[in-house]
Amino acid sequence: MSIAIRTVAVVGAGYMGGGIAQCFADAGLHVTIADADAEATRASHERLLREAREFERLDLVNAGYADRVAANLHVADSIEEAVADVDMIEEVVPENPEIKASVHARIEAAARPDAVFGSNTSTIPITDMAAGLAHPERFLGVHFSNPAPFIPGVEIILHPGTDEAVARAAEEAVRATGKLTARLKDKAGFVLNRLQFTLLKEAMTIVEEGVASADDVDTIVRTTFGFRLPFFGPFVIADMAGLDTYRGGFATLEKHYGERLSCLESLAELVDSGHYGVKSGGGFVVPAEGNEALVEYRNTAYARLTRLLSDLGPAPVGRSTGAAVTEAPAEADSGERLG
Ligand SMILES: NC(=O)c1ccc[n+]([C@@H]2O[C@H](COP(=O)([O-])OP(=O)(O)OC[C@H]3O[C@@H](n4cnc5c(N)ncnc54)[C@H](O)[C@@H]3O)[C@@H](O)[C@H]2O)c1
Repeated sequence: MSIAIRTVAVVGAGYMGGGIAQCFADAGLHVTIADADAEATRASHERLLREAREFERLDLVNAGYADRVAANLHVADSIEEAVADVDMIEEVVPENPEIKASVHARIEAAARPDAVFGSNTSTIPITDMAAGLAHPERFLGVHFSNPAPFIPGVEIILHPGTDEAVARAAEEAVRATGKLTARLKDKAGFVLNRLQFTLLKEAMTIVEEGVASADDVDTIVRTTFGFRLPFFGPFVIADMAGLDTYRGGFATLEKHYGERLSCLESLAELVDSGHYGVKSGGGFVVPAEGNEALVEYRNTAYARLTRLLSDLGPAPVGRSTGAAVTEAPAEADSGERLG
């Protein structure tokens, strides 16, 4: 059975919900938003149309974007009205299990039982939320990243009872917006935030230990391993560096940080069986042969990124060196958030 998605309701039209609604509207789907009350919904709608015009004026989106968003984005006076007869619902209310549960109950009471039902939760297990639903089979995680109009990746998270046709329909609707999807099994934090929170916690620990300031940690992250991340994930990076090198590195780190940074058995086994990565035997994902193209791609990518960064100039972070790690940025919605 295949499910076609032509109409979408986005419940919670704040920072993420607004951006997600713009993505679906730009893709030509009929989108209805509903926030906490009719007044808040109308204010969001105005903001989203204004923002869409600004994106187009700055040449950040394809021509006609603002008109497409204006034509396809609609408002409802209530959650019930928004979800009443749509093919897909995306819940984007605050990251609070109680708020999500009460909104989910209202959605289920008013929606068609066959409507695909996604949550944009950043961390809450989908299985936990599905347990409170009358129709858990049509429920899954559809996790856009911030800012939704510009970040290409979306996590599709299935709990054990998610219907395969529902997952495929959600993937197709998301891909219609031009995004890339990755399908995941359900575990708190999924992939994005489990990794991102681990990085932040370790970075904060480094600052608290007095090893480096927050500004210096940020400089090292974005100019060294972070510089590779737009092009390669951790597995390809390790394959290119050499898995034997990683194994040796883990041995040192385990000595100083214990089990937390020990070498996983699967990496030791790869090295023991002659898989050193690109340099010989192949690695996690990259084969040993045919790597000239990869090296050329890597060098081109890094050289072009250097030029882009030089064109853009430094990010206007707006705070001086040595600021406390807990200090808030000047404007609450001016920077990156959860993921
Ligand atoms: N901000 C991020 O970086 C980010 C990234 C990815 C995922 N997320 C996730 O997206 C979700 C929303 O986050 P956000 O940053 O957009 O928050 P936000 O506070 O900007 O937006 C939440 C919206 O939900 C509305 N709302 C609250 N209660 C409601 C109710 N009962 N009915 C309808 N609307 C209601 C609020 O008025 C607000 O507009 C969370 O689950 C969050 O974890 C956030």
